[in-house]
Amino acid sequence: MVMPDPVHSPTPAGTTAPLRAGTGAPLVVASNRGPLSFRFGAGGTPEQAGTAGGLAGSLHDLVAGSGATWVACAMSDADRAAVDAGLMREDGLRIVAVTSDPDEYAMAYDMVSNATLWFAHHHLFDLTRRPVFDHRWHRAWSAFRSFNEQFAERIASEAADGAVVLVQDYHLALVPAMVRDLRADLAVVHFSHTPFADPGVLRVLPDRAGGELLAGMAGAAACGFHTRRWAAAFESCCEDLGVRAPRTFASPLSPDTGRLLARAGSPACTAAGERLAEALGDRQMVVRVDRVEPSKNLVRGFLAFDDLLERHPEHRGSVVFVAFAYASRQGLAEYLAYRTEVEQAAALVNERWATPGWTPVVLDIADDPDRSLAALAHADVVVVNPLRDGLNLVAKEGPIVNRRDGVLVLSREAGAHDELAGAALSVNPYDVAATADALHRALTMPAPERAERAAALRDAVTGRPPQRWLADQIGAAAG
Ligand code: F6P
Repeated sequence: MVMPDPVHSPTPAGTTAPLRAGTGAPLVVASNRGPLSFRFGAGGTPEQAGTAGGLAGSLHDLVAGSGATWVACAMSDADRAAVDAGLMREDGLRIVAVTSDPDEYAMAYDMVSNATLWFAHHHLFDLTRRPVFDHRWHRAWSAFRSFNEQFAERIASEAADGAVVLVQDYHLALVPAMVRDLRADLAVVHFSHTPFADPGVLRVLPDRAGGELLAGMAGAAACGFHTRRWAAAFESCCEDLGVRAPRTFASPLSPDTGRLLARAGSPACTAAGERLAEALGDRQMVVRVDRVEPSKNLVRGFLAFDDLLERHPEHRGSVVFVAFAYASRQGLAEYLAYRTEVEQAAALVNERWATPGWTPVVLDIADDPDRSLAALAHADVVVVNPLRDGLNLVAKEGPIVNRRDGVLVLSREAGAHDELAGAALSVNPYDVAATADALHRALTMPAPERAERAAALRDAVTGRPPQRWLADQIGAAAG
């Protein structure tokens, strides 16, 4: 099991509590998606919706009530209406909302952050066809730069003297250098929740954009990643483009065990679990929980299950693959097309193998976090097979809430693999046959081995509380 590289992991020994305003340097965090998000209610007034995404939810748990300042984007019309109505507020947190022009924001978020940078860092470009960097894209890059400038200016005007500023993720990659130029007294750290592109992939970006991206991040005192591997990729890119790399560190995030178990034991989760158990009877359950996202590799997951049913007739009728996915980034054609592919792949398995009374694949694209957690709790096997993933929190949430000594089938390309290899069954996410073999091994694994692996997974996940991740960033600011 590979733990974060101690040389680069700056947590001071014994430091597990997050820095609180008033007990040290004031804390500012900045992210595109913020702690609160809104939708329009029946009467057209904005009302609070759940927080989507691992970053915003995890960070919110860590800084809630701390008095920290959180600079975040008002992403939707409902968010912007909430800001106007004074609803973007929470006791114990100073939320500073950045409101951009919706069209400019769409260019920055959809075209650059998601269709370009996300695809680059996850190695998702289909290079024969995409990306195409036309003049429209270059205008989008300018919008991305302005969006980052807006953040930098708000941070510079809101941060107290000597504050520590933790800038999160690729949406804000240009912010560190901009803040440094505006406020030299601030200690800025950038943390990436994604992998980082290898140099050959970063070279696909227009030269100026690639250089700006690296120089922007290099303006931080230190850049953090969930694994040493992504830090090394960033350093290689800097070397390739002649940018002086800042200090880097690896610090993987983990879920908050107490909160997660409390949620898993809530009436809503318990009821969802009972419904699942009843629907399943004595069949085994393979579970996956993902965003509908090209990097998550859902289609190959269904192909592997198809292969399993073909080669191992004994599993026919006795295993159900439950895939609870939720839609995201619906403004992007790639995501809409991928959703169709995912639905078709699941339907094909069912057309081929279903019998009266047995549906092999249950795919439901509806955002129901309680039901998803209940499925992870009741799973015999959890599949997490991304093509490339910064960390993957589901791989860590499953072992905490699972009650059946569930086996984790885990892509070696997920950041979480560094901590969980050995206890999980590792797979090459492109190798459908090997994934099918791993599913078979997981479904037929003797009980003692399941118990041993499940305990090892739990130890690995719970041994590093999420406060360590925040403390590492704060420690990195100090140098
Ligand atoms: O970078 C990773 C991440 O921020 C995750 O925390 C989250 O799952 C996802 O991206 C959310 O993306 P978005 O904010 O675009 O919905």
